[in-house]
Amino acid sequence: MTSESGSVEAFDAVDVIRAKRDGGELSDEQVDWVIDAYTRGAVAEEQMSALAMAVLLNGMSRREVSRWTAAMVASGERLDWSALDRPTTDKHSTGGVGDKITLALAPTVAACGAAVPQLSGRGLGHTGGTLDKLESIPGWSATLSVAQMRAQLRDVGAVVCAAGAELAPADRRLYALRDVTGTVESVPLIASSIMSKKIAEGTGALVLDVKVGTGAFIGDVDTARELATTMVGLGSDAGVRTVALLTAMDTPLGLTAGNALEVGEAVDVLAGGGPDDVVELTITLAREMLAAAGLHSGKDPADALRDGSAMDVWRRLVRAQGGDPDATLPRAAETHAVLAPADGVLTRLDARAVGVAAWRLGAGRSRKEDPVQPGAGVELHVKPGALARGGEPLLTLHTDEPERFPVPSRRWPARTRSLRQGRGRTCRRWCSTEWRTEALPAPGARSR
Ligand code: URA
Repeated sequence: MTSESGSVEAFDAVDVIRAKRDGGELSDEQVDWVIDAYTRGAVAEEQMSALAMAVLLNGMSRREVSRWTAAMVASGERLDWSALDRPTTDKHSTGGVGDKITLALAPTVAACGAAVPQLSGRGLGHTGGTLDKLESIPGWSATLSVAQMRAQLRDVGAVVCAAGAELAPADRRLYALRDVTGTVESVPLIASSIMSKKIAEGTGALVLDVKVGTGAFIGDVDTARELATTMVGLGSDAGVRTVALLTAMDTPLGLTAGNALEVGEAVDVLAGGGPDDVVELTITLAREMLAAAGLHSGKDPADALRDGSAMDVWRRLVRAQGGDPDATLPRAAETHAVLAPADGVLTRLDARAVGVAAWRLGAGRSRKEDPVQPGAGVELHVKPGALARGGEPLLTLHTDEPERFPVPSRRWPARTRSLRQGRGRTCRRWCSTEWRTEALPAPGARSR
């Protein structure tokens, strides 16, 4: 096969597509070629879409997905931090609502003796992106050169920035293509996409936080386990010590969803406070990251949050990237409280509905070039299982554009559910909350 440039290609793309379409296994040479040729433009977008669909339908063997990942890493640069005086370790979350964990986690792990070279992304759809959150800090920049990353890892111990175009360029193209061809939901393609970027980032150890639930892009535990197992295998194949945790994402993490709102909550955690679920996950992931890096007996992450050393790293990280850790965070121009309809217990607060709400209030984007509002989002006052009094706020909505607030006559973005027993009341005004009034015990009443 001769390419447009006149050079002879090792394979014909149609043969590769047919092999996968008919349920065959691609050889190492075919995989290497197709990824390289796609990156060079010698395999057309429509050919890669057909191949991605064939992979989605017929899967990949363990060998194929490992080779596919290695080929995507080899399509660009692989960073190397081996000259640092401490081990590197990182975390990847598959994305959830209110997932601000990286913000406190990276400084905490650095305060305990590891270096964290985290390359993060921006949000698209209902899950937020770490870079959007950090960019709500006045002056903070996500763009660093490799030399700047190296200096910051040495001097501060943690860096959170955008991946440069030179890292896994094959994945950059393929991910954009999958997004518009209905081929995102393939375990081998998701696993190789995530792991190619993390391997190229050069971390020595990696902890994967695989989210499961309504607010995650995987709703069932079996698929989440399959993805986690595949990614752990890919990490090990590439010499990255990798572990995975499956964590629940049916209810938002913490009490905020939105960029500056989440930064404020992460700073509370770094100051030794913050919501219990955020603190617990931060400490759990930090311990896993340190263990994966071989740092078993040093400072404990809970102590780093308590003694101010994690906060100290955070302040240095923000400053090193041009931000002012003392600046007032942006607030949205308008707020709207959603009130509890009566005394009762909140039985469900759907993570996806809260994520969609934050997104539609302006915290997220529909297209990757859209701007985000730093102050927009949702603040939660009550979590499932807690009591609330009628007339008190369940949620506060924040936006710069009040026309984004829902009006009761418009269904957007309400997603109410009726109660199973049909005896309680459903909060019909906003968001996906389920509400039971009969669960409130009368003072002195004996439970049945
Ligand atoms: N995140 C990625 O980086 N790739 C995927 O395929 C899915 C989520």
